[in-house]
Amino acid sequence: MLIVSIDTSGLCGAALASLETSEGVTLASAGTLEEASASWATDEACVVVTGPTVAPDEVFAATSRWSADQEPVAVIMVTPEPSAELLRRALRAGVRDVLGVGEAEEALSESVSAAVTSLAPRVESGDRAPAGARVVSVFSTKGGVGKSVIATNLGVALAGPLKRPTAIVDLDLQFGDVAIMLQLAPERTIYEAVQVFDRLDAEMLRAYLTPHDSGLRALLAPVSPEDAEAVTVNRIGAIIELLRGMVDFVVLDTPATFDDVVLTAIDHSDDVYAVATMDVASIKNTRISMQKLRQLGYDDGLLHLVLNRADSKVWLDAAEVEKAIEGRIVAKIPSDRLVPRSVNKGVPVVLDAPRSVVAKSMLDLARSIADSKGVSGDVAQGTARAGVGA
Ligand SMILES: Nc1ncnc2c1ncn2[C@@H]1O[C@H](COP(=O)(O)OP(=O)(O)OP(=O)(O)O)[C@@H](O)[C@H]1O
Ligand SMILES: [Mg+2]
Repeated sequence: MLIVSIDTSGLCGAALASLETSEGVTLASAGTLEEASASWATDEACVVVTGPTVAPDEVFAATSRWSADQEPVAVIMVTPEPSAELLRRALRAGVRDVLGVGEAEEALSESVSAAVTSLAPRVESGDRAPAGARVVSVFSTKGGVGKSVIATNLGVALAGPLKRPTAIVDLDLQFGDVAIMLQLAPERTIYEAVQVFDRLDAEMLRAYLTPHDSGLRALLAPVSPEDAEAVTVNRIGAIIELLRGMVDFVVLDTPATFDDVVLTAIDHSDDVYAVATMDVASIKNTRISMQKLRQLGYDDGLLHLVLNRADSKVWLDAAEVEKAIEGRIVAKIPSDRLVPRSVNKGVPVVLDAPRSVVAKSMLDLARSIADSKGVSGDVAQGTARAGVGA
């Protein structure tokens, strides 16, 4: 991966120097944006860092052009004054990150590493799709819309009734609810797994997955919120890719934010289920985050819309919602008292009340996910089962 900086201030060079030791990373510098675009090979992914002396307008124009040409490029901009207006324009142009001069020294190398990780799988995604698990994430930047309820029910439905080897990863690293919703004791979590990261392979990772009665294997969130920091995006990406070789489906539950962890989850996902509830605030929030994802270059085919708590009493017209959000609704999950009851019991509603309408709607969604990936061949399936069983 190539990292090109355009910077006469010298600020970026010093902050980027530490990255040169990472495997497969080459640092280069360019005098202008034109020169930068001449320095990457057509199919090589590249991170372009623009220093505080490069005019923002030029950065926006070049970024828009590269994104229209579908170049695998992430642009990170260091600027003297990151005003709200500038951030808005940067986002619209598809700039990956904007850092103020004051924070660049500390934050730049991390921002570049995250961009490097996020570019890598997308460039290779063509080769990776048929082999290994299908990775699906459940997403919303609004809290309390039902992400964890949906993620745990999908995981349990895939592993249990649909009998497909499945793992769930709780990426809500600070406030994860998967353990509670599945009534699992978090004896070993993703925090313990990253402690042995240097030696971690599929065989070892298996020992950090907590088994649920349904057959689902859960990689739980750290017990203490402060341990979340050790779980970096590079490690999360590597763990998802390890799981891909171990099961048929990986379900990612995510926090209600739009940070690097969530972007990493999306980067590694084959499908993203954005959850909206039927209120104006949630629909507006979903529309904005879907727009942001499209601006960041995520393919529309990746994003699917799930309506939760679709209450008949305040039923908005589905077509209206689709139009507002510019996305297609793939599932409608009704509001039902059975859901909070199942959450309190720690038994997902697809197991607790499988004949209810709410359980059936989640089972249908799980079935459509299961159908999107054929059953692995006998040999491969045997391996996967042995891998996550026992
Ligand atoms: N279809 C539903 N019917 C009734 N209640 C629901 C439904 N879906 C979710 N809930 C309730 O909403 C609460 C919040 O759900 P959940 O924890 O899954 O949201 P979340 O999006 O994961 O929130 P956070 O972002 O805070 O993690 C749950 O306690 C659950 O009882
Ligand atoms: Mg949650």
